[in-house]
Amino acid sequence: MTATRTIIKTQVGIVGGGPAGLMLSHLLAKTGIENLVVEMRDHETIRNTHRAGILEAQAVKMLVESGVNGRVLTHGDEHAGIDLRFNGESHPLDFTELVDATVTLYAQNEVFVDLAAARELDGGDVRFSAEVTELLDLETDTPKFRFTDAEGTEFEVHCDVLVGADGSRSFCRRQIPETNRQDFKIEYPFAWFGILTEAPKSSPELIYANSPHGFALISQRSETVQRMYFQCDPNENVDDWSQDRIWTELQRRVDGPDNFQLKTGNIFDKSVLKFRSFVREPLSHGRLFLIGDAGHTVPPTGAKGLNLAFADVKVLFEALDSFYATKNDTLLHGYSDKALKRVWKAQNFSYWMTSMLHTPVGGDPFMAKRALGELETVTSSRFGQQYLAESYTGWPHG
Ligand code: PHB
Repeated sequence: MTATRTIIKTQVGIVGGGPAGLMLSHLLAKTGIENLVVEMRDHETIRNTHRAGILEAQAVKMLVESGVNGRVLTHGDEHAGIDLRFNGESHPLDFTELVDATVTLYAQNEVFVDLAAARELDGGDVRFSAEVTELLDLETDTPKFRFTDAEGTEFEVHCDVLVGADGSRSFCRRQIPETNRQDFKIEYPFAWFGILTEAPKSSPELIYANSPHGFALISQRSETVQRMYFQCDPNENVDDWSQDRIWTELQRRVDGPDNFQLKTGNIFDKSVLKFRSFVREPLSHGRLFLIGDAGHTVPPTGAKGLNLAFADVKVLFEALDSFYATKNDTLLHGYSDKALKRVWKAQNFSYWMTSMLHTPVGGDPFMAKRALGELETVTSSRFGQQYLAESYTGWPHG
């Protein structure tokens, strides 16, 4: 078989063509660093994978300033705050007034579509539906990987640097010897039931609701399509949930004396999102570097996943740029430590938002009351509001 394997030589080999891998590929190509992206899934599957939709201003800036395109500005929806709802009452947080920052609601699949189009326009080498089977020589100056494309043709890629951008079930991550790695993780005893519905917006801002029946998030996609979630059992079966049952459940989680009513409509997508907190340390091994979900996963409550992936991309891109400009690998060696500082801040924020807003399973009344005390503390103090607003809108890059 080896005789038939086609050798490809490139500078940076990127395993994974989701937003993180494509963003890195785009930035590298713009500075003249040759790279190849290999992605297991097909374009259509990634385009239809629904993920969180909040971009920090810095992520928006990366898309716009690197010349991906301006769709995020024309089709994205800038949000200057969120609404924290508990005890049936609304507590609006105004990010502009608190920390002079905003976020942009722009679905992650749109980010993927934009990046994939930009790579295609620039003649980037992105192979979809191609399975990586082996990583080789990670501890040398010429790491390699093997993949089989959709036609069954086998390739071996020789590069200077290999990047694992292959998501939360990362193949690359598992190739690092056990003696050189440590995993930190927690599981949560609940999940999110997510829906897409043809309905008008229920409220101008996103609503994060703590209720005795569990958490709910009222998010948006456009004037006519909305995204909503409610806390559920990780083993919940979507087929057990009729449209009426879903609307009743969502409504009772936002009920209150203000008589707030959700605007309902046809539900055309239902899914259960399991979540966990996970960090791999270090985020590198030899010449292999992990970015995005391949290196760390956050629960979706703080919408940090994609933002954190883009922050990794920025740090790694700067290190690679310096490596090719100077042949000095000091920044590459520092990648893991530098990226992990932000990763742990985001882990803390995502865990904190999750624990404050969800109803503890098993119904421990003390913990439920404690969370309400925390929400009261945060919303009644300007410092508390600023702490949440600063974390939500994103700490400065670098
Ligand atoms: C979403 O719109 O999908 C969304 C928004 C905010 C979150 C999580 C998900 O915190």
